Amino acid sequence: MTEIVVEGGRRLRGTVGVLGAKNAVLKEMVATLLAPGLHRLSNVPDILDVRLMAELLSRFGVVCRRDGHELTLVVPAELRPEAPLELVRQMRASIVALGPLLARVGEARVPLPGGDDLGARPIDWHLEGFERMGAHFELVHGVLIGRVEGRLRGCEVELPFPSVGATENLMLAAVLAKGETVIVNAAREPEIVDQARHLRTMGAEITGEGTALIRIQGVDALDAVERSVVPDRIEAGTFAVAAAITGGDVTVTGCVPEHLRMELRKLAEAGCEVDRGDGWLRVRGPDRPRAVDFATLPFPGFHTDMHPQMVALLSVADGTSVVTENLYDARFRYVGELARMGADITTEWQHAVIRGVERLSGAPVLATDIRAGAALVLAGLRAEGITRVGAVEHIDRGYEDYVGKLASLGAAIRRA
Ligand code: EPU
Repeated sequence: MTEIVVEGGRRLRGTVGVLGAKNAVLKEMVATLLAPGLHRLSNVPDILDVRLMAELLSRFGVVCRRDGHELTLVVPAELRPEAPLELVRQMRASIVALGPLLARVGEARVPLPGGDDLGARPIDWHLEGFERMGAHFELVHGVLIGRVEGRLRGCEVELPFPSVGATENLMLAAVLAKGETVIVNAAREPEIVDQARHLRTMGAEITGEGTALIRIQGVDALDAVERSVVPDRIEAGTFAVAAAITGGDVTVTGCVPEHLRMELRKLAEAGCEVDRGDGWLRVRGPDRPRAVDFATLPFPGFHTDMHPQMVALLSVADGTSVVTENLYDARFRYVGELARMGADITTEWQHAVIRGVERLSGAPVLATDIRAGAALVLAGLRAEGITRVGAVEHIDRGYEDYVGKLASLGAAIRRA
């Protein structure tokens, strides 16, 4: 079994670059289903989820090829609209294939993904939206079968919460629907903005991305295009916390600091010196961070995918922090692992109270999800002695060469 072995106590220094955002590239790969032809995506990280998505698309008939950080996808005129359970179970983002398959083929068979490491994660808002657009669904032995008579119809869909996945899925269907679709209370994440830009490059008519009201005028056909994926704000933010937790000095390049405003503000409150410019940010960490409270919220609030990394930092802060998790019911599962390293954290329902300790001590721990895994490695960078992080496949889902990049900043870290 592969583990990440970290010896704590080194201050990280230097410059590290980030790649395209996992949560943008996965949906932009799916968007290629909307147009036959040769598509090219660049700035694509070599991570497990991208490989899984390429495998899923190949089941639909798409031929994907990677060359460095460039991905070419050849989409056929006829698609096989059937997703296999083993892939959907491994990667929930598979569900965003529903929208384009319904729009292009008029049919989709996608197994219900079920819950995952972060909780129940239903998809009811996606389905309600498609039903309003004229699709019908039945659940047959765990497989969701969706059908549309003729073409999807544009309509107004009001989301009960600005769900990233529901906004994306509906956008991916609406671009080829008949007439206008209006998504009210849409998600405003930078990855949504990037997806809208990608779709517009393909010929879609979309306005309002980045606001809570997105308007999409359906068109008859879209084109295959070439495009570079927006930088990964979570990868950038994770290295920012690596600087903070080690009292180091790290510059992150290839990122968009504007996409991390709230997270950088909280790092500054914790005592970090934060500088930023066009495409880069620099974080200098204090000897010991200060306690900070935060609550996770949809963009532009504090991102839930930066929550475990920030809690790792606050576990060694001077003072007590209160964290509220508003997105996921099982996001705190990693807290027990941090406690094995000496962190003093109590959780109740969606809140955690973190009483900062002076030192963590290295221990064997298990990653419980992508961000929890990244955070346990960060805790290991600060801890005395050796930390061994198991279940690293979680980390590999979302970070290309996490270990190599941290080592390049001076961390004593290796895979074993
Ligand atoms: N929700 C429903 N019903 C729905 C859809 C969502 O109840 O039909 C609930 C969810 O259960 C959750 C909340 O709404 O409590 C928000 O979920 P959302 O749909 O916004 O999340 P997602 O699209 O499933 C994406 C990212 C997550 C990220 C969230 C929030 C991808 C592949 N995943 O998930 O990323 O945490 O948005 O920003 O884009 C990660 O990268 O580690 C990760 C988990």
